[in-house]
Amino acid sequence: MRMAITYEHIKTCKQSGARLGRVHTPHGSFDTPAFMPVGTQATVKTMSPEEVKEMGAGIILSNTYHLFLRPGHETIRKAGGLHKFMNWDRAILTDSGGFQVFSLSENRKISEEGVEFRSHLNGDKLFLSPEKAMEIQNALGSDIMMAFDECPPYPATYEYVKASTERTSRWAERCLASHARKDDQGLFAIVQGGAFEDLRKQSAADLTSMDFPGYAIGGLSVGEPKHVMYEVLDYTTPLLPQHKPRYLMGVGSPDALIEGSIRGIDMFDCVLPTRIARNGTCMTSGGRLVIRNQKYAEDFGPLDPECSCYTCRNYSRAYIRHLIKADETFGIRLTTYHNLHFLQELMKNVRQAIQEDRLLDFRDEFFARYGLNDN
Ligand code: GUN
Ligand code: ZN
Repeated sequence: MRMAITYEHIKTCKQSGARLGRVHTPHGSFDTPAFMPVGTQATVKTMSPEEVKEMGAGIILSNTYHLFLRPGHETIRKAGGLHKFMNWDRAILTDSGGFQVFSLSENRKISEEGVEFRSHLNGDKLFLSPEKAMEIQNALGSDIMMAFDECPPYPATYEYVKASTERTSRWAERCLASHARKDDQGLFAIVQGGAFEDLRKQSAADLTSMDFPGYAIGGLSVGEPKHVMYEVLDYTTPLLPQHKPRYLMGVGSPDALIEGSIRGIDMFDCVLPTRIARNGTCMTSGGRLVIRNQKYAEDFGPLDPECSCYTCRNYSRAYIRHLIKADETFGIRLTTYHNLHFLQELMKNVRQAIQEDRLLDFRDEFFARYGLNDN
């Protein structure tokens, strides 16, 4: 049987060990390391699919949890799948709901069978399990589906994380067994284990013995210090197969994208660029810029003089500041476009630096201008 998702390795950076590659999906290929814009509710907030393509994104992420609650996966199945429903013809990855159910819903009850919870929209009692998460994602028709997991909070006790991680492995097995569209949808497993090296090792061993087409590292970017995340990556990524994509979930600050790439990660996603854009915070070559600041009131230059995006080619800081302060939708469209474009460009530069065996130099040059402590 043909694999829905394959990883083509192009080269390893001699300076850093980072990987340059390409992931092939039924909806086209994308170059890695890649950043995936987040389209939680079947839309990248305020952007049209044409705009997201124009920035260069080859894959976006959407959410099982939200689409299950509203409009319901059967509606999307009837529409002909998520690609058709939202008019996006490039690749889509869907998260399994295993994370959102813990961060958004109330009155959760976790058992071996799955998770019972109340909808954050109307309080309805709902249930998600490995089988249900596969049924929903099969109906959505995403190119990459995620296994149903539990992402333990940080910090959590060793005993809690151990039991949770072992259950995530058992759930992964059930996901694999009930996944009904293996020829055109690839299912990725999620390595858990918190900040405990032996649990990460056990999780990676359990999951790599099951032969998924790709592996994610979950349970990070949940409030732990950055150095803890990098330590976990240092000992976890080497345990993952070389010939399959590796995805670090929920990471999207420029520094962590670069540090993750250096540690052998191929894919990332995060709401950060779109979320901060909506309160007027912009990622620029000189670091974060808060456009509401009074000092931009009569600054008629571009948001980022080094950026070539639609926003920076056409509008001034003063104008964008005015729109954001006046709560005009166009303002958040402009900052969202710029932030997403900024990260697509950053990943392009990361890939170029890998090609030229100088990713560590690139990191030092980037940090010198952007600043280090960006969450
Ligand atoms: N998004 C960010 N972290 C996680 C995780 O650990 N699991 C899942 N399913 N999604 C995530
Ligand atoms: Zn720009």
